[in-house]
Amino acid sequence: MRTAAVILAAGYGTRMKSDLPKVLHPLVGRPLVDWAVRAVAPLLQAPPVVVVGHGQELVRSFLGERGRYAVQSELLGTGHAVLQALPALDADLDRVVVTYADMPLLTTATLARLLDLYAALAVDPALAIAMLSIQRELPQGFGRIVRSAGGDVAAIVEEVNCTPEQLAIRELNPGVYCFEARWLRENLPHLPRSSQGEYYLTDLVAMAAGQGRRVVTADAPLEEVYGVNNRIHLAEASGVLRRRIVEKHLLAGVTVVDPASTYIEAEVVIGADTTIWPGCVLQGATQIGRRCTVGPYSQLVDTVLADGCRAVYSVLEQARMEAGAEVGPFGHLRKGAHLGEAVHLGNFGEVKDSYLGPGTKMGHFGYIGNAEIGANVNIGAGTITCNYDGVQKAKTVVGDNAFVGSDALLVAPVSIGESARIGAGAVVTRDVPAQVTVYGVPARVKTRTAEESVG
Ligand code: UD1
Ligand code: CA
Repeated sequence: MRTAAVILAAGYGTRMKSDLPKVLHPLVGRPLVDWAVRAVAPLLQAPPVVVVGHGQELVRSFLGERGRYAVQSELLGTGHAVLQALPALDADLDRVVVTYADMPLLTTATLARLLDLYAALAVDPALAIAMLSIQRELPQGFGRIVRSAGGDVAAIVEEVNCTPEQLAIRELNPGVYCFEARWLRENLPHLPRSSQGEYYLTDLVAMAAGQGRRVVTADAPLEEVYGVNNRIHLAEASGVLRRRIVEKHLLAGVTVVDPASTYIEAEVVIGADTTIWPGCVLQGATQIGRRCTVGPYSQLVDTVLADGCRAVYSVLEQARMEAGAEVGPFGHLRKGAHLGEAVHLGNFGEVKDSYLGPGTKMGHFGYIGNAEIGANVNIGAGTITCNYDGVQKAKTVVGDNAFVGSDALLVAPVSIGESARIGAGAVVTRDVPAQVTVYGVPARVKTRTAEESVG
């Protein structure tokens, strides 16, 4: 069946008390509207039509070609909002799904059940609307689903317009519908204006029933139809999504020692037999291999860890670690840090825009920036690449098997040859050839004393 979707996203979101449009507030790594688009997109042949209003430029530039757009410049209600979307819909549609951009917990599976119900009953030419329905003891804020004596859906009545009997109804309207496309096009322009001055999309239900057309419901899980209107709701929705994400990883073979204190964003990939200790924040395009240990208390942003890595009490941003590399406690890998296989970076090490070759060790505090360090290099405690002269960055190169003594300053641009040795406290201002030992301030080649030549 040819299916289109309309996502309502024009509201002000006043209760967020924010300069940012409500639907762009991030939720576990994705804006609210992104969750709504992702939920419905797999069921469609073309991108959903997003009805934008408040903050429309930002919403459009975020979604780009993942959405098509209709503008609602005056907020005259949900019916008016969908009316604005009609011209953007293709002509040959069978059905139109309507959802909200501020309902991030709604899953593709539940929407698919709604569409399956519609498809199963579509042989009946009277079918006009399939909609989700919930049962809830606290009905406040929801339209009530009113049924006839025979049990057919007769109307949705908004809370403000309910009679006392209707207020007692516990079957409620979450606001997610699948309309027969032609029927929607014909009837939407004829919605009456409500006593509140709005065009209620929900009034279509009574219109359909009045025409002898059929309206059917599919039960929805309560948790999924949760609307976000303020930051308390945002935090609660975040809790649900985080739990879902952690459960996915647990079932895929990842140990998450304390799900409640672990924050894993939606796109993060983690291999089996990896353990995530409490207090970890894993964000963006982070990918973690198998048999890694992350945490306790580490933040990884857009960072890639190969198998068997360890990151303890550390912050890693746009960094990469090859198999068996370890960092921490209290390490900081900044943008472009790349640790080769089995590199050991100990406490208070900071690495930026640098490669450290396999087996290299930097056990204690130090800074390596804009450097290319070979394999099996020892970087002594307190070593610093002086890579910035106040104007530009310069490069440091250190060859394989070099030994850099404690507290050495490598003043870039500078190159240290293979197996060279830098004495403790040296300030290296000139290139050091391979095999050679230098020391002092500024560092000089160590010449053999007579005694040494003899001995
Ligand atoms: C709506 C339903 C109600 C349902 C409830 C579920 C109507 C008339 N009522 O009520 O039956 O139980 O949702 O949450 O539909 N929006 C626009 N443009 C508008 C008005 C709204 O884009 O002119 C968007 C809002 O941004 C929001 C969504 O539509 O995302 C729902 O609007 P809202 O005003 O919250 O509807 P409710 O009064 O909650
Ligand atoms: Ca609402």
